[in-house]
Amino acid sequence: MLEIRGLTVDVAGRRVLNDVNMIIQEGEAHVLLGPNGSGKTTLLLSILGFPRYEVKEGEIIFKGEDITDLHTSERVKRGIGISFQNPPVIKGVNLGSMVNICMGEKTDEITEKTLELAGKMNLSEEFLKRDVNFGFSGGEVKRSEILQLIAQHSDFAMLDEPDSGVDIENMELIGKMIGELLQRDYLPSKRKRMGLIITHLATILDYIHADRAHVMLNGRIVCSGVPEELLSGIKKNGYEGCMRLCQK
Ligand SMILES: Nc1ncnc2c1ncn2[C@@H]1O[C@H](COP(=O)(O)OP(=O)(O)OP(=O)(O)O)[C@@H](O)[C@H]1O
Ligand SMILES: [Mg+2]
Repeated sequence: MLEIRGLTVDVAGRRVLNDVNMIIQEGEAHVLLGPNGSGKTTLLLSILGFPRYEVKEGEIIFKGEDITDLHTSERVKRGIGISFQNPPVIKGVNLGSMVNICMGEKTDEITEKTLELAGKMNLSEEFLKRDVNFGFSGGEVKRSEILQLIAQHSDFAMLDEPDSGVDIENMELIGKMIGELLQRDYLPSKRKRMGLIITHLATILDYIHADRAHVMLNGRIVCSGVPEELLSGIKKNGYEGCMRLCQK
């Protein structure tokens, strides 16, 4: 289980998250909605413990342990993984080696396992030989990020806009892969993995059957509820309107 209690975070001296509270139970997939610049990515990177994200107040509890002050590498070891919205280019490291590292393999050679997993993401052996994110198209970046996340077998998978800029055919592919990662075809009582997915689109919900959604506005969670209801509320009334309806 993940529990975020009263999390308040400053970035570059500016308050970006304000008293954020969220509980994700084992086996649940949650969706985080909200306008551009509202603090969604900041929340994910704060959960991962990026040093630039200064926790001013609050706690992050993961599997019963307070991880608020742990180094990012320790959080990853405990089972937190992410697919970044804007991952960096890593010159000199090819994607195949990176996936091997994610799987815990020691070799730089592209293994059968890596090749098979990449194939499922519609990524070829040639593609695996390229430096991570160097010259990747927008959709290729997303598939490469999801591939690395799947290879990690994280207990808690955070996905930051995995569906943005993805074409219709690849949307189905990544939707199914994320659904599989989050064990959405298992009975609820059998699901172990937790997920937190940031999206601006409704299509991805067809694949992940999220349990709960949250709307973030100006660094606060202003509304939580049934994902499809919240999304249609936002479509009809905008973010502010949806918040007002939620608070009635
Ligand atoms: N390193 C930083 N330095 C300065 N400001 C930052 C930094 N990181 C985030 N911010 C600011 O914090 C606010 C929230 O950013 P964040 O990336 O969390 O938004 P978001 O909700 O993910 O938006 P989007 O939907 O566009 O991805 C923005 O105003 C952003 O400019
Ligand atoms: Mg973002």
